[in-house]
Amino acid sequence: MLRLDAVTKTYRVGAFGGRTLTAVDGVSLDLVPGEVVSLIGESGSGKTTVGRMILGLTPVSGGSITLDGAPVRPGKDYYRQVQGVFQDPFSCYNPIFKVDRVLQMIREEYFPGTAGAQWEEKVAESLEAVRLAPALVLGKYPHQLSGGQLQRLLIARALLLGPRFLVADEITSMLDASTRIDVLNLLADLKSRGLGVLFVTHDLSLGNYVSERAVVLHRGRVVESGPTGLVFGNPLHPYTARLLDSVPRLTARWDGVPQEPVPDTPEPSVLVEAEPGHFVRRVPAPELRSVS
Ligand SMILES: Nc1ncnc2c1ncn2[C@@H]1O[C@H](COP(=O)(O)OP(=O)(O)OP(=O)(O)O)[C@@H](O)[C@H]1O
Ligand SMILES: [Mg+2]
Repeated sequence: MLRLDAVTKTYRVGAFGGRTLTAVDGVSLDLVPGEVVSLIGESGSGKTTVGRMILGLTPVSGGSITLDGAPVRPGKDYYRQVQGVFQDPFSCYNPIFKVDRVLQMIREEYFPGTAGAQWEEKVAESLEAVRLAPALVLGKYPHQLSGGQLQRLLIARALLLGPRFLVADEITSMLDASTRIDVLNLLADLKSRGLGVLFVTHDLSLGNYVSERAVVLHRGRVVESGPTGLVFGNPLHPYTARLLDSVPRLTARWDGVPQEPVPDTPEPSVLVEAEPGHFVRRVPAPELRSVS
């Protein structure tokens, strides 16, 4: 299990780093194999920072991240188990090299002793898992492939290592609607093969489509979490309700009413279990059980 326990990230900002900005504030969540957890929140709520900390790309300022109970130590062993895919597939490829290079780099780093035929079999297997025909992508330059194909190739690259967990940060936001569904269905497929996915998104409908559990971030703090059906079906925090209200509906005209910002929950606030498994940030009432 991949566990975040009260993880915090502060940055020094402003001229000469004189101020601190708390990008992530006491976030706790568990990721288990075979489950997709959506991490949802508006721009700047801290989603990418959470993903980067899980991947060891940004050090945590407080709290802990553990894999099967052991503190995370980024390195080859860790990356064989935990992989990440990010928003912009185009930036991961060098336009002057064939796309195969991103796979080749994994071979050199992680599978130096693997024989040619065995490696090709491995590549074919992971391409098949992301529903890409090898002949369609191998030997091509990035500009010869679509955004969806490039994104799926990056997922295939992550799968080459046989990870147990995948951080997928806005991986569908640069794709068109039909390719997006394709990539989402792929995630569902990977989940059924036992992969645990942290699906980072600002789009609630995508979170609803693909995940078992949802965690809603507002200004770096978890304001609501629980089974997706409960969080979306019965949103308890005003921020979650606002996010749900702001999803455009195909059947209604958008009236464009500007929305007031959701105020911070007054302090002291804690996550309270409002119904089984469904937590919401509130000012604590003495009769309710608190978890943070
Ligand atoms: N290296 C950094 N130095 C200073 N502040 C940072 C740094 N990285 C992120 N931040 C700040 O931390 C906050 C959270 O950023 P983050 O990228 O995690 O948000 P996000 O939820 O992923 O947003 P988006 O949906 O736009 O991708 C923002 O206020 C951002 O400006
Ligand atoms: Mg982000």
